[in-house]
Amino acid sequence: MIIDILTLFPESFSYLNSSILKRAQEAGKIELNIIDIRDFSKDKHKKCDDYPFGGGAGMLMTAQPIFDAFQSVKKDSSKIIFPSPVGKVLNPEMAKNLSKEGHLIFICGHYEGIDQRIIELLKPEEISIGDYVLTGGELPTMVIVDCLARFIDGVITEESLSEESFASGNLEYPQYTRPQVFQGLEVPEVLLSGNHQEIAKWRKEQSQLRTKENRPDLI
Ligand code: ADE
Repeated sequence: MIIDILTLFPESFSYLNSSILKRAQEAGKIELNIIDIRDFSKDKHKKCDDYPFGGGAGMLMTAQPIFDAFQSVKKDSSKIIFPSPVGKVLNPEMAKNLSKEGHLIFICGHYEGIDQRIIELLKPEEISIGDYVLTGGELPTMVIVDCLARFIDGVITEESLSEESFASGNLEYPQYTRPQVFQGLEVPEVLLSGNHQEIAKWRKEQSQLRTKENRPDLI
């Protein structure tokens, strides 16, 4: 999958070049390109924002540099995403569907937003990552890319996907690793028993308990 990210803040994206997503790129499962919108500005000072018509707080990103940056990467098959608090809220099913696309283009808004004509012309899918407002689309883009990448074949194991939170409708059970005792706290005995049936039963109970306590809305 090719992912092109259009942004005024390319330096924000170093996170995507670490850990699991770094390995996914090295293995050729994802090609990630960060495109600096400012490089496409036709303004002599490379300006990319301006005051909103009609007045109001803050600055808006102007249409021309975003449009030209988009033209430089678009293909017939591109799926365009604009992270925005007014979009549909991301869930695992949406991420799974996005993971099947061949080419994604993310447009990162910043400041008070972008000129609405970009939305009208490019008709991106607007996706929110939750009911709160961030200062730009960079973090939401990283959240969406990280979330969808986990569904690309071979990026993480099938087992990790099937046992994680939300996969079964419940939150994931607690996990422990060495040492067996830490700060006086012991690993639950059942996990050391080697009895796989009992371990599975304990994990299921723990999942249900957590879900009931933290997310009763999921039940
Ligand atoms: N941009 C600013 N806030 C956002 C949010 N909650 N989701 C997606 N994009 C955003």
